[in-house]
Amino acid sequence: MTLLGEPGSQQTLHAVSSHVHDVTQVAGDLYQLFLASPPALRDRMRIREFGVLIAERLRAFVGREFAFDAIRRLVGGADFPSGYILVRGEPGVGKTALMCALVRKNGYLHHFNIAPQNIRSSRAFHENICAQLIVRYRLSFAEVPASAVDDSAFLSQLLEEAAAVADGPIVIVLDALDEAEDPPGGANQLFLPPTLPNGVYFVVSSREQADFRLAVDRREDVYLRDDDPANLADISLYISTFVDSHADRMRERLAGWGVTRARFIDELTERSQGNFMYLVHVLNDIRDGRLGPETIEHIHNLPRGLQAYYRRHWAGMRSMEPERFERVFEPVLRLLATVREPVTVDYLEDLTSLAPSRIREVIDRWRPFLNEVDIGDERRFRVYHLSFQEFLAVEGMGLKPFHRRIALRAIEGLPGLLPPERPD
Ligand SMILES: Nc1ncnc2c1ncn2[C@@H]1O[C@H](COP(=O)(O)OP(=O)(O)OP(=O)(O)O)[C@@H](O)[C@H]1O
Ligand SMILES: [Mg+2]
Repeated sequence: MTLLGEPGSQQTLHAVSSHVHDVTQVAGDLYQLFLASPPALRDRMRIREFGVLIAERLRAFVGREFAFDAIRRLVGGADFPSGYILVRGEPGVGKTALMCALVRKNGYLHHFNIAPQNIRSSRAFHENICAQLIVRYRLSFAEVPASAVDDSAFLSQLLEEAAAVADGPIVIVLDALDEAEDPPGGANQLFLPPTLPNGVYFVVSSREQADFRLAVDRREDVYLRDDDPANLADISLYISTFVDSHADRMRERLAGWGVTRARFIDELTERSQGNFMYLVHVLNDIRDGRLGPETIEHIHNLPRGLQAYYRRHWAGMRSMEPERFERVFEPVLRLLATVREPVTVDYLEDLTSLAPSRIREVIDRWRPFLNEVDIGDERRFRVYHLSFQEFLAVEGMGLKPFHRRIALRAIEGLPGLLPPERPD
């Protein structure tokens, strides 16, 4: 079985270096500064890993002026000398993409919690952000001490020192607080400090209903509401940009449905329920012919909302060849939704006993739902978006049997324990 490296390890950092171009584009001068820092600090930062995420989430980025304005008004505003700006919204509405855009536009320090990749610990957050602060503000520390990750004391000290030398506000972007691990006792999520020095801001994102602890002195909320006219205007802008940049194929599909460009934009805006993840899937499916006049007679029959889209797609794929779907497709996809880090085809073969050619077929057919990363000379896969993982957790058999299968296999790998058992 292939064991995965600790996220952020040399192996992972080396692996993503092929994306250096994207990363340079993302973080600009900041990236160069981080790259030139001493290894004891550089190896604590996840700047390249996150650079890959940022480049991917911003590939077709549009709009969001209303959110940029709201954040700009708060940072450095007379009524808000320091504090937390919490960006809230439903799954798939575009919080992570907005955080990525803030980093690219302004070169802000940043950390992304990514539950499907198991980047969610307080340790990962403190090591990364403390190292970024030391390097960015040239603070006199050669490394992040091991004890820095157990509470907020070291981070608070660095923020004080950085605020004393910075020539403007210090802004730290922190994505997906709801995906971070639960803190012990009554502590804040990720041990975030309750009080921030003047001129220091955290822009934090979280899902609407998430149950996390953030007891702080000053906090303002910015909403990405799915039904907000400003959000719906961005949704329409994304659709029109997509239609124009894939003009030939989209003209054909629209003609097949007998709808005008304007009518199509209106209808899809309404059906998306203001959700960007929905649009990414549905527009790709329409362009590539998976959803079109041949399969859906009228655009009124397009699914409404992200979960309805997942349900329809899953049921459609199953009905084409039910036996093979259950034997081949379902185990591979459910495993990819269960693993905590991206995995290789070898790993999937080991856990499913399916031939690698079959596994590759699943990956090819479900590529829009998966993320690929190259680690060394290996390609690894996992589910792209948490919302698809969540759909699979409640659909049919769920993910529990796969959690068990992964745990059993890990135990089998320990010397002197259970003998190897073939999966059913
Ligand atoms: N303004 C935008 N322009 C273009 N694409 C966007 C925009 N916002 C989001 N997207 C795309 O939509 C998809 C979902 O967005 P994102 O991952 O940011 O959602 P989210 O709100 O962070 O969801 P979750 O709560 O599940 O983390 C991504 O593929 C992202 O790149
Ligand atoms: Mg997100």
